Amino acid sequence: MAQTKIKNSTALPVDNSAKLEALFVDSLKDMYWAEKHLVKTLPKMVKAATSGELKQSLNEHLEVTKVQVSRLEQSFELMGVKAQAKKCDAMEGITKEGEGIIEDTDQGSLTRDVGLIMAAQKVEHYEIATYGSLAQLAKTLGRDDVAHLMAQTLEEEKEADQLLSSIAINFINEEATVE
Ligand SMILES: [Fe+2]
Ligand SMILES: [Fe+2]
Repeated sequence: MAQTKIKNSTALPVDNSAKLEALFVDSLKDMYWAEKHLVKTLPKMVKAATSGELKQSLNEHLEVTKVQVSRLEQSFELMGVKAQAKKCDAMEGITKEGEGIIEDTDQGSLTRDVGLIMAAQKVEHYEIATYGSLAQLAKTLGRDDVAHLMAQTLEEEKEADQLLSSIAINFINEEATVE
């Protein structure tokens, strides 16, 4: 009986590490779907936005997002698995909410921009949470190379979030109240 116990405790870390790696790869697939989905969604938001400032920042983030897609592909390669997208229900929900905001607000209004910023920031916050976890998880798995890629994307998402905040504070919220 004592022998079985020892066997179990030595086998456990190996098993855990394999499971952690599987969880990590699964989350990569989730984000791969999410980022590719955003490459399709962001142009719609750019088109719907009212102010040039918001259009420009969303457009710039579209380009950044394309780089993030290829960074995920690089990560799959480093992990030795095929790049594969798995539908991310959370991102689908957040972007659907954004589409609802476009439907519910008038074209050319700053109120629409306020709504779009809210939707875009929800996207960024989801990404920040996920990439933060992925960077940590990659480190735990001893994959500093992949952790570095995740950390790079994490920084870009934080920057995008801050830029959206400053647009909201400096410009739109003020003007939307007089609309
Ligand atoms: Fe992203
Ligand atoms: Fe983003």
